[in-house]
Amino acid sequence: MKRLLEVPMNRLPAEGQRVLLRHEEKSVLLFNVAGTFHAIDDSCPHSGASLFAGKLQGNMLQCPAHGLRFNLDEGCQNAQTMAVRAYPASWQGEVIIVNLSES
Ligand code: FES
Repeated sequence: MKRLLEVPMNRLPAEGQRVLLRHEEKSVLLFNVAGTFHAIDDSCPHSGASLFAGKLQGNMLQCPAHGLRFNLDEGCQNAQTMAVRAYPASWQGEVIIVNLSES
């Protein structure tokens, strides 16, 4: 089943910022990194901390709980091969569509 989250222009984060979106039972973070949007689960794979307050340096997001770092450009993986679940986010007209479909 396709699960699409539509994010209108007025909800999009400014460059270098993020927003927390809720859709059904999911909490999703949408980042704007130099004009590119990245959508990930708001849950660190280490022990489930929220990543909302994580430090963002370029495309690297650091978990605020224990400091693991995740590359938003590379499927949100880190050197320990843990990965935050990432979702495709793309423009469709005036909105960003985040595809939350299960694979
Ligand atoms: S919960 Fe994220 S590094 Fe531990």
